[in-house]
Parts: sequence; structure tokens; C-alpha cells
Amino acid sequence: MAALSLRGLVKRFGAVTAVDRVDLEIANGEFLALLGPSGCGKTTVLRLIAGFEKPSAGEIAFDGTVVSGAGMHLPPERRRVGIVFQSYALWPHMSVARNVGYPLEVAKVRGREYDRRVAAALETVGLAGLAARRPAELSGGQRQRVALARCLVMTPSVVLLDEPLANLDVHLRAAMEDEFRRLHAETGATMVYITHDQAEAMALADRIAVLDGGRLVQAATPERLYSEPAAPMVAGFIGEGAVVDARVVAADGDGRCAVRLYGREMRLRCGAGVRPGPAKVCIRPEDIGVVETGIPVAVRRRRYKGGYSAIDVAPVAAPDDRLLLRLPAASPPGDGFEIEIADGWVMPG
Ligand SMILES: Nc1ncnc2c1ncn2[C@@H]1O[C@H](COP(=O)(O)OP(=O)(O)OP(=O)(O)O)[C@@H](O)[C@H]1O
Ligand SMILES: [Mg+2]
Repeated sequence: MAALSLRGLVKRFGAVTAVDRVDLEIANGEFLALLGPSGCGKTTVLRLIAGFEKPSAGEIAFDGTVVSGAGMHLPPERRRVGIVFQSYALWPHMSVARNVGYPLEVAKVRGREYDRRVAAALETVGLAGLAARRPAELSGGQRQRVALARCLVMTPSVVLLDEPLANLDVHLRAAMEDEFRRLHAETGATMVYITHDQAEAMALADRIAVLDGGRLVQAATPERLYSEPAAPMVAGFIGEGAVVDARVVAADGDGRCAVRLYGREMRLRCGAGVRPGPAKVCIRPEDIGVVETGIPVAVRRRRYKGGYSAIDVAPVAAPDDRLLLRLPAASPPGDGFEIEIADGWVMPG
């Protein structure tokens, strides 16, 4: 049974529909990333799951039991949900140990049980030696760990994380990503992890749910989102590449279709819903090769990336389109050459 079910979930704030008919099942022990641009409704979904907001319509169930909706609203403290915010929200006047133990204090856990659980939570996040310090005496990464320990001390079955790494520098983020993966494996908790960073979502999650304007556009494994995006928005948001207009000539139902693009006909991968007519094609850098005779292109921009060059080209037949290539840095071709599109993913236009 799903640990967490969102069914027809809607949240309106006055005229704004922040969450718009979202259906999503999250499995027990799954690490799900909620990904999307600023303002797409990620935090609102999290606040609905935690019970800080009441849905305008639809319902939320934990392990099959409705906690929000249909006249039901279980308060946040009774949901066994742990939350880690971007801002950490630590008490500056309390020691690390007291910050971590605070939820236990509120729940009236005392004595040996209290000490044992605080020590275990600090141990889990690698902060056992810093229990007596105050937040001001810690680095950003250590503060983030305190916030994490404070969440884990209540052994939540669902952990909600709202952009927990947004305040950290690049190196610390990479180290903390490893930490989150380890914690997920160790605790077995169901995790819902908000981010607007697609690389972070790809690195961490079993599955990514992409939100846009309050709507769930696609929920799939990182590999699937990358290779078979359901819509141009997902294709543009996940990984690098281009989305260009094409025409489907024939869709023969074997997972490929004949597409007319830049005056040539090619067979590309496509989903079940694709019909003959206008379509969009997602083309990744690895789909494109340089050939003797192919589609003539003009170089528009070149960036050395260390080991290879990223090159933006415009087909001569469609000068407003931009395709992205990766070529060995040592042997970049001149300002005009020819390419073949060996692969691509066709989406309904
Ligand atoms: N309490 C509120 N009252 C009115 N509008 C709100 C409220 N909370 C959120 N909104 C609006 O709902 C939409 C979704 O907001 P939300 O905070 O969920 O976005 P987000 O995806 O978390 O964005 P970000 O990546 O910037 O944190 C936005 O248009 C926002 O302005
Ligand atoms: Mg947010």
C-alpha cells in the first residue's frame, strides 16, 4: 500500500490556484523528489501533506487512512511527519543537543529515553561530538545536520524536506547529497524532497514528480524523465538539449515514428499518444553526430567545458532553432558543418 496518497488535491489562495488536481502515490520507503520552477506549488504540497494547510478539494491519505479531506483534518503533530526547512529554524539560545531534543520535550519524553534518542539522532548525522555547542558555533552544513537530527529524533515514517541544501555551497551540497542517500537507506523512511535543482533531484531520488503551475506534469524515474519526457516543459527542465518543432508523417505503433525535420525524414522514438501532424521533438547532445553529408548547421556559440566543448548550432533550414552538441575540445569543426540526428523523443505538439 502507498505510504502517501494525494488524490485530486487542490489548494486555492483567493484567485491563485497553487495546487491544481494533483494525483500522486508515494510508495513506502520511496525517495521522491518534487521538482519545478519557483512558484509552481512545491511548498504548498508539502504544507498540505504536513497538515499546515487544509486542501480546497481532494484528499490525502497516509497508509490508506485519510488525514486531510472529506471533513477530516488530522493536526500536524499527529501525522508522524518530520520536516526540514531550508532556513533550518534552529533555536539560537539552545545547545545542539537541546535543539535536537526539543520535539521530544514537547512530546513529554524524559529521562533515559530522552537521552538515548537524542544521542542516537546526533550519531546518525555525525554530530555526536558537538552536542554542547550552540548553532552560531557551527558551519552551514553542521546546522543543516542539526535540523535533520531534530526531524529524525521522532522517528517519523515520512520525512518532508523543503530545499534543505539551498543555503549551502556547491561542495557541501555534494557531501550532503551523499548524507541524505545514506540516511534514507539507514532509516527506511519515505522521503519527499523539494528542489528546483534538476541535477540534485536526479542524483537523489528514486522518482521525480515535476510540477508546473500547480499541475503534476510527469512522475517517473530520473532515467525515464530524461529519455521520455511527457511534455516540452519536462524536456526543457530536465537535462540539456533542445525542443524543436517537427511533423510526424507516420506513427506505426512500435515505439518509433517517421518524422520530417529540417527537410529530411528520420525515424525517432515516440510515445503511444503521438499521431501524424505537428509535434515537438526533444534532442539531447548525445543524439547528434557530425557527418560528411547531413543537415547543414551554423555555429552560434562555443563554450569550452574542460575536456569537451559545448556548441550551439542553428540548422541552415531553421535559423531560429538551437541544437546543442558536445564535441572533443581538441578537434572542434569550423563555423559550419553537417550533422545527423541519430535519436530523439517525439512528444505530442
Ligand atoms: N499563504 C499564501 N497566500 C497566498 N498565496 C500563496 C500562499 N502560499 C503560496 N501562495 C502562492 O501559491 C503559489 C505556489 O507557492 P509555493 O510556495 O507552493 O511555490 P514553490 O514551488 O514552493 O516556490 P519556490 O520554489 O519559490 O519556493 C505561488 O503563486 C504563491 O505566491
Ligand atoms: Mg517553496
